[in-house]
Amino acid sequence: MGFPRNRMRRLRSSPSMRRLVRNTSVSVNDLVYPLFVREGEAIKEPIKSMTGCHHFSPDTIADEAAEVASLGIPAVLLFGLPAEKDETGSQAWAENGVVQQAIRRIKKATPELLVVTDVCLCEFTSHGHCGVIKDGKVDNDQTCELLARTALSHAQAGADIVAPSDMMDGRVRYIREALEENDFENVAIMSYAAKYASAFYGPFRDAAESAPAFGDRRAYQMDPSNSDEAMAEIALDIEEGADIVMVKPALAYLDIICRAGQRFDCPIAAYNVSGEYMMINAAGKEGLVDAEAIMMEVATSIKRAGADIIITYFARELAELLS
Ligand code: PBG
Repeated sequence: MGFPRNRMRRLRSSPSMRRLVRNTSVSVNDLVYPLFVREGEAIKEPIKSMTGCHHFSPDTIADEAAEVASLGIPAVLLFGLPAEKDETGSQAWAENGVVQQAIRRIKKATPELLVVTDVCLCEFTSHGHCGVIKDGKVDNDQTCELLARTALSHAQAGADIVAPSDMMDGRVRYIREALEENDFENVAIMSYAAKYASAFYGPFRDAAESAPAFGDRRAYQMDPSNSDEAMAEIALDIEEGADIVMVKPALAYLDIICRAGQRFDCPIAAYNVSGEYMMINAAGKEGLVDAEAIMMEVATSIKRAGADIIITYFARELAELLS
């Protein structure tokens, strides 16, 4: 046994052979493309901190979404930047809020494209935290009520999937109940279940104008050192009514994706976040790496780890490369 009878290189000997024995493949069907919408008209402004991404207004975002759909990408994930912020983030659940407007426009123009909405308050609060502040801390239960209101308003505007990203305890239960009570039983919840307090969100906070004005998010987002806690978070979210669970970020947390995929039967999403995206872009621009090859390698690694869905700012490029 062993060498020379076994030669591992036999199955690597030609492109067709490699194709035949391949375990993992990335498909356009796996991709979700994030989009940023801000109040205004005819806006398509490049985002400085995130090469290739733009701020759109509700009118232009519908065209962008239609283009995304034409590439075969099944879903977009919406983030909103309101014209005005306040202590509680009330624009988050405003009937005519910027996200709600964008949902209506996109669903009208491209009904088959799934609209996923980020459900959080940090882009809407004056202090930039993901919830309501009481005695200098984010109040969990009061925040859950506002998140449920926000998710419900997204469903009313036509969202297909709501995605709470705040990391409050019990928010999935609040949201599921609000959806049930208002006959939105078919709106899915994709919870940011294992979301870590990560420095990889830097470019996004610039793009979404959502950096906390004081302190940080470590009292609600997870400690990067913990793995069992992620399994507990995911189990609770599923029990509370999540249909899809997410691990975020992706690359530095492939072990968490792997554990989650082995343990849970619902679809697992991985968020390849802004810092991960910009590291590849910046290194590519410097001529240090082949950014396109790395983008595909990274997407493959996320799938191989066990994710079913990849949320990525590379979705458009990946879709083009895959077609
Ligand atoms: C909002 C939210 C964040 C991201 C997605 N939703 C930022 C944060 O938690 O501070 C990060 C996405 C990215 O970096 O690409 N809570």
